[in-house]
Amino acid sequence: MNPSFDPAEKIQDLLQFGEFGGVNPSITDSSTFTFMDPVTMTETFLGHTEGCFLYSRHWNPSNKYLAQALASMEETENAWVTASGMAAITCSIMQLCNSGDHLITSVTTYGGTFAFLRNYLPKFNISVSFVDISDLSEVQKAIRPNTKLIYTETVTNPLLQFSDISALAAIAKEHGILLMVDNTFSPMIMSPARLGADIVVYSLTKFINGKNDCVAGAICGKNDFIDALSNVNDGTAMLLGPVLDPLRSSGILKNLHTLHVRIKQHSQNALYMAKGLKELGLKVIYPGLPTHPQHILFSSMMNPGYGYGGMLTLDMETTEKANELMRMMQGEGVGYLAVSLGYFKTLFSNSGKSTSSEVPEEVQRKMGLSEGLIRFSVGLDNNIERSLMKVKYCLTNLRII
Ligand SMILES: Cc1ncc(COP(=O)(O)O)c(C=O)c1O
Repeated sequence: MNPSFDPAEKIQDLLQFGEFGGVNPSITDSSTFTFMDPVTMTETFLGHTEGCFLYSRHWNPSNKYLAQALASMEETENAWVTASGMAAITCSIMQLCNSGDHLITSVTTYGGTFAFLRNYLPKFNISVSFVDISDLSEVQKAIRPNTKLIYTETVTNPLLQFSDISALAAIAKEHGILLMVDNTFSPMIMSPARLGADIVVYSLTKFINGKNDCVAGAICGKNDFIDALSNVNDGTAMLLGPVLDPLRSSGILKNLHTLHVRIKQHSQNALYMAKGLKELGLKVIYPGLPTHPQHILFSSMMNPGYGYGGMLTLDMETTEKANELMRMMQGEGVGYLAVSLGYFKTLFSNSGKSTSSEVPEEVQRKMGLSEGLIRFSVGLDNNIERSLMKVKYCLTNLRII
């Protein structure tokens, strides 16, 4: 990959003006659009017209601006925005897989995705193999004649394993299958499409919007795939209809323009926290620590200047200890006891009992997810030293250190 690739520059270089020369693109709050000629309407339904809009479940100009910006950031040909990250994931998978198909996924994956793959896809006779994505031989072994897709998260939720996107892309290519990557934990830090992924999905709800004021998602990929998703006859996104509201879309686009600044600060703060907690002898996972098993691999694939991201985990070993610490940290103002991530304040939750509760406990233990694991999304704190002091105060009070 090009070591000087800068996704922020790609966004900065975009020129998207409002109708009257506004510095922000105008918001198109119309569900339907007029045509001067009925023939143009017919052609638009057939997908033969460029630049015409027919109905906002299909395309809306505001959504197009956000999709364009995300495609630029990812260096994909095109993108589509959805009403949630789950809609991006489920629509993409349903578009690609038919009854009788098989897909391979990292067993460590967001609980909602895990539940969809394990509990929902069997209804459509689509089978799924759950593998340790860091073990490439396991991935190879799982491939069957009917495998369509390898699915993973760049940085997995919640164990923060790193998926070797280049190697997985090579495996996918060798077998003529596709690689789909959820890059929600590492926008700008990693560019999966540049590393060989065919489809990149996002929960925009997280770092990209960064305000926790809405739920949204995105699918970035080749023109053919985005066209297929939005096809009026058999496009999954068009027919299942999880369209993003244009008002939300315009808000997310504005927040996208500050993503690079925020990601750097999230990364800087998380590294400080991770180092500080590790020095206390605690069990910390953070991709920026040399003790992370894939630290060197991660470093070799990241875009320069954005750090290792805002996510870290602290294993308190038991749920009781995790709960005590989280209760106290909230009381001391370290952040909020809440799920989700990428917010300007620090958020923490016990993964096994919240965002991974869909994963059966025996599977949690098998994959190495401890019942006491606290996942932190480290915020944009201006004084992270003070925040670490507060965490240390809580740990001392609870006689953990
Ligand atoms: C990695 C990851 N992907 C996807 C999702 C789902 O996104 P949304 O809540 O926007 O549907 C989440 C939600 O937590 C997530 O953590």
